[in-house]
Amino acid sequence: MTSPVPFVEQIAAVVDASLKTIAALTSSEEVAQATPGLVGKKSALSQLKSSMGSIADSEERKSAGQALHAAQTSVDAALAAKKSECEATEMAAQLLREQIDITEHLVAGTTRGRLHLVTQATQRLEDVFIGLGFQVAEGPEVESDFYNFEALNMPKSHPARSMWDTLFVESEEPGSVVLRTHTSPVQIRVMQNWPPPIYAIMPGRVFRRDTPDATHMPVFHQIEGLVIDRNITFKDLAGTIEAFTKAFFGDDFTSRLRPSYFPFTEPSAEFDIRRANGSWIELGGCGMVHPDVLRAGGLDPEEWSGFAFGFGIDRMAKERHNVEDIREMYTNDLRFLRQFSS
Ligand code: DAH
Repeated sequence: MTSPVPFVEQIAAVVDASLKTIAALTSSEEVAQATPGLVGKKSALSQLKSSMGSIADSEERKSAGQALHAAQTSVDAALAAKKSECEATEMAAQLLREQIDITEHLVAGTTRGRLHLVTQATQRLEDVFIGLGFQVAEGPEVESDFYNFEALNMPKSHPARSMWDTLFVESEEPGSVVLRTHTSPVQIRVMQNWPPPIYAIMPGRVFRRDTPDATHMPVFHQIEGLVIDRNITFKDLAGTIEAFTKAFFGDDFTSRLRPSYFPFTEPSAEFDIRRANGSWIELGGCGMVHPDVLRAGGLDPEEWSGFAFGFGIDRMAKERHNVEDIREMYTNDLRFLRQFSS
């Protein structure tokens, strides 16, 4: 009969085996799976604990107890260390997987885009008018008959409506929704929404049923101006147009007004500017805001007066850069567009 293996040696063997098992674990999931077998109720360590009672000698039992306690402590510590080691590795791997590279790459030789020449002209116009104390407003491109015509003193079937070849939008009430034919409807929206005094410019796209040719496009851009204050006169209008002409084109340019007709202004004028070489370019329309238009905008014509003006931006860009055919500005041929850096 072989003598039984001494208890402390059995403990040492269990600890040895446990530490080897722990060392071989590679993930926190494996650690979780192995834990009950190593330190749970059915583990070799627990079994040794329950067999301790069979040691008859009390001294022997005491030292076995101490050895078991030390064994338990070292297995627990090894498990805990393995667990946190695995978790740290896994966290690092997850961070690496989910990492987002926010470095900005500058690729050598990249060409930068530039603003379209109509955008450049719009921004320069805005700069000049902001310098004169104006604020910028915008309105919708799809507009109601009310804002595009009626509020501008053109009731239904008013003959002046034929001044604009209108594109209509299908709607429940045919004819009641249009693509705005000019930026003038924004005047009404501004009057309805801003308390006077008002010094506003309103740039934007407008639409007309026109066949494209060298000087016309069915979609083009206008900029509208509106001044509403007390005691505004025609002199203020002429002075503003002149100040704008010099600020935008240069000191050697001047402006002139010619009598004209628009339903929303009374009196109305067209304005031209004179180039350095003495020739004139027709720019746009202007006039004193009609009392009916002031009323449509919710203002009392006895208290407030004002002037308005509107002109084409594309035409100005075309003149400034000597573009022969306005259609060239919209074919998006980069060889053409690249000539106009801001
Ligand atoms: N809306 C006019 C057009 O498109 C231009 C215009 C004329 C605007 C006179 C105005 C104005 O504000 O007072 O032809």
